[in-house]
Amino acid sequence: MSSQFEERSGIDQIPVAKRPATTPPPRPQTWLLKLIMALTGSVLVAFLLFHLAGNLKVYLPDDPRLHFNEYAHWLRGLLNPLVPGETFLWVFRGTLVLCLVLHLYSGLTIKIRAWRARGGRGRAVNVTKHHLVGRTMIWSGGIILAFIIFHLLDLTLGRGVASSKFSSAASYDLPDGTAVTDAYSNLVHSFERPSVAAFYVLVMMVVAFHINHGIWSIINDFGGTAKRTRNVFLFLAAVAALIIVIGNASIPLAVQLGVITL
Ligand code: HEM
Repeated sequence: MSSQFEERSGIDQIPVAKRPATTPPPRPQTWLLKLIMALTGSVLVAFLLFHLAGNLKVYLPDDPRLHFNEYAHWLRGLLNPLVPGETFLWVFRGTLVLCLVLHLYSGLTIKIRAWRARGGRGRAVNVTKHHLVGRTMIWSGGIILAFIIFHLLDLTLGRGVASSKFSSAASYDLPDGTAVTDAYSNLVHSFERPSVAAFYVLVMMVVAFHINHGIWSIINDFGGTAKRTRNVFLFLAAVAALIIVIGNASIPLAVQLGVITL
């Protein structure tokens, strides 16, 4: 039913879809940013599970140094000889960086829009447990970003922050005689430092919170209301977070306890 005003102004003669909006929606639209967050976040979680599978090779009973270094070498030459040298590794790294940048951009834009919509104030009422974790996503995301920079400097590049025993040139000979980077001994040397081990364990907890809330947000943002679907997402969120925190955090702890050694 149209109002008296609409009848007088004749606006009810215009199809709803063609009526001028009072404020044009911001671009890119928020639903698109949320979709980008969900897709890039899923790629990053998939990477973390894949990365964990590789990291867990440090627990193989029979010569873990060989298995771990073999795996790092395999990753570098993946899809050889279909594509030359380290092409796949660089495409893989490029995809990760792209996902990270898009994830950050979308997250910050949504956050700024929400803040402006509240007139520049924080949320005042009814802060539930989910809201509380949600409000700290920007901080946990920032900590993870700082961690990634440290982690790459520490274990991939070995610049400045790395253990004095670290060497990006440390070499290990595979059984077929190929000399590869000794990623395993770099990892052990790094986690032999109690402060670094503690930092990794703490950050893995932050990662778990971030992932848990991120997966849970996907179902809310896209209007999943069916009880069963919501339960499945809650379960997936908890399982992914637990696997990542327990699997990863156990490694620096195991080095500190002398379970993983050179
Ligand atoms: C205790 C947990 C972790 C361990 C033991 C670990 C171990 C490693 C090692 C040894 C490398 C270097 C591999 C090489 O040079 O061949 C590496 C690379 C990397 N890690 Fe981790 N990592 C952990 C957690 C994480 C987390 C939580 C993230 C992301 C949030 C992450 C992201 C990366 C990235 C992006 C690379 C570079 C991959 C590449 O392009 O070569 N790692 N990690």
